[in-house]
Amino acid sequence: MKIVLIGSGNVAIHLGPALIKAGHKIIQLAGRTETSTRKLSIRLNCPYTLDPGSITEKADIYILAIKDEAISGYSRYIPGNKALVLHTSGTVKADVLANCGKMYGVLYPVQTFSRKRKINFKKVPLCLEAGTPDSKKRLDSLARSISNNTQWTSYTERQYIHLAAVFANNFSNHLYLIAEKLLLKKDLSFEILRPLILETALKVQKNRPLQMQTGPARRGDTKTIEMHKALLKTDDNLSNMYTILTQSILDHSGPTM
Ligand SMILES: NC(=O)c1ccc[n+]([C@@H]2O[C@H](COP(=O)([O-])OP(=O)(O)OC[C@H]3O[C@@H](n4cnc5c(N)ncnc54)[C@H](OP(=O)(O)O)[C@@H]3O)[C@@H](O)[C@H]2O)c1
Repeated sequence: MKIVLIGSGNVAIHLGPALIKAGHKIIQLAGRTETSTRKLSIRLNCPYTLDPGSITEKADIYILAIKDEAISGYSRYIPGNKALVLHTSGTVKADVLANCGKMYGVLYPVQTFSRKRKINFKKVPLCLEAGTPDSKKRLDSLARSISNNTQWTSYTERQYIHLAAVFANNFSNHLYLIAEKLLLKKDLSFEILRPLILETALKVQKNRPLQMQTGPARRGDTKTIEMHKALLKTDDNLSNMYTILTQSILDHSGPTM
């Protein structure tokens, strides 16, 4: 299919090559910042524009991989009304694209994309939502061409998947940052935690998180919990976070502690 990709950020950088690998042709890249747009257009071997008014009408599919708040406004620039128009957000409703014509929908990749990381797109779960029955066939065929893991989700399901992803990914990554800062207080390196972080992620691939929980809260070790709180007594925010997370683990732990 002939595709116009809009955006030159983290998602576009990974989605663009995946589309090409699947045999589609990106006929134009539309971006906002010259440097990143030109760089990605070279990788995708396609022309680019920085002017939304110059987007070609010749595509079968337009994909808006841009900031959530910009999706609705930008969709007004999509020309014609016979193409399928998609966005990639976990939180924006599909019908913000309803002004684009009869075919619109959502292709939300449940993965964390960062510029310098390599991702096997075939393994990325894609949440699909067709805005209209007309959109379903084309979206299904596009999604299956780039991933082996696709599913149709309602807006509410997508909202919950996104919320769960924030807890599983964004919050745990932020906790790594806090761990790093605590170690730095004593001139210790984050390296010491890397094997632990890896094992924590690996063991939930085959097991449920509840069964894999370890640590003082899981063991009901109040002495250690009090000692940790004493170490955090000069930092109210961290101390509160520690208390909330500890309580949450206690609430989920059975009487076998
Ligand atoms: N990153 C992820 O892991 C991830 C995962 C799943 C879904 N998503 C979704 O995918 C979409 C893109 O996310 P991303 O991570 O690629 O974001 P990003 O790296 O921040 O890139 C955002 C893109 O949107 C452009 N943009 C921002 N404001 C704009 C505006 N007002 N008009 C036109 N373009 C604008 C940016 O242009 P400039 O470069 O000029 O700022 C950039 O090309 C979002 O809906 C996001 O929720 C992201």
